[in-house]
Amino acid sequence: MKRYHPILVILHWALAIMIIGGLIMGGFVLSETPNSDPFKMTALTAHMSMGMLILVLMIVRLMFRLFTKKPQPADIGNAMLNKSADMAHWAFYAVVIAMCASGIAIANAAGLPAIIFGGSGEPLPANFNDIPPRMAHGVIAKILGLLILSHVAAALYHQFVRKDGLLGRMWFGNRKG
Ligand code: HEM
Ligand code: HEM
Repeated sequence: MKRYHPILVILHWALAIMIIGGLIMGGFVLSETPNSDPFKMTALTAHMSMGMLILVLMIVRLMFRLFTKKPQPADIGNAMLNKSADMAHWAFYAVVIAMCASGIAIANAAGLPAIIFGGSGEPLPANFNDIPPRMAHGVIAKILGLLILSHVAAALYHQFVRKDGLLGRMWFGNRKG
C-alpha cells in the first residue's frame, strides 16, 4: 500500500487547516477579546462550532484510520525515531480530542451552550479565568502547537532531506504497490 485511504487524506488536510486555524484564532483573537466586547459572542460562536466539527471529524478519521489499509511505517533508519513517529501520530488523536473536551468543559461550566446557542439573552461571565478547564485548554493548546511544529519538521525532513516522497503518502493517487 503506497498511500493512505483518500478519505483519510482529505480529512487529514481539512483537519490540519481547521486545527491550525483554531489555534491561531483562539490564541490571538478569541482569548485577546474581552468578554465585554460585543464581538466576543460572534468569536465564541465560530470557535465553538468549529471546535465541535473538529471533534466529530477527528473521531470519524480515527475510525477510518483503524479500519483501512495503510502504508508500511516510514523508516528513518533509527528504531527510537521510528517508534516516536508512531507515538506522535497516536498522540495527535489524544491531544486534539483533549483540546475539544476541555473546550466543552469550559463552555459547560460557564453556561455557554444556553448563552451562545440557546439565545438565553444572559450576559457572558466577566471572563473564563477561574474555570479550571480554561487553564487546561491553554496548556493543551501549547502542547498541540509543539506537536504540529515537530510533525511538520519531520515531514519536511523526510521529503527534502531523505527524499523518500513521504508527502505523497498523504496525497491522492494509485495506492497499490
Ligand atoms: C493540525 C495539523 C495536523 C494533524 C492533526 C496531523 C495529523 C496526522 C496524523 C495523525 C498522521 C498519521 C497518519 C494517520 O493517523 O492517519 C499524519 C500523517 C502525516 N502528516 Fe499530518 N497532521 C497535521 C498537519 C500536517 C502538516 C501541516 C503536514 C505537512 C507538512 C503534514 C504531513 C503529514 C504527512 C506527510 C503524513 C504521512 C506520514 C506517514 O506516511 O507516515 N501533516 N498527520
Ligand atoms: C481542536 C479544537 C480547538 C482548538 C485548536 C482550540 C484552541 C483554543 C485556543 C488556542 C484558545 C486560547 C488559549 C489561550 O490563549 O490560553 C482557546 C480558548 C477557548 N476555547 Fe478553544 N479550541 C478548540 C476547541 C474548543 C471547543 C470545542 C470549545 C467549546 C465548545 C472551545 C472553547 C473555548 C473557550 C470558551 C475559550 C476561552 C476564550 C477566552 O478565554 O476568552 N474550544 N481555544
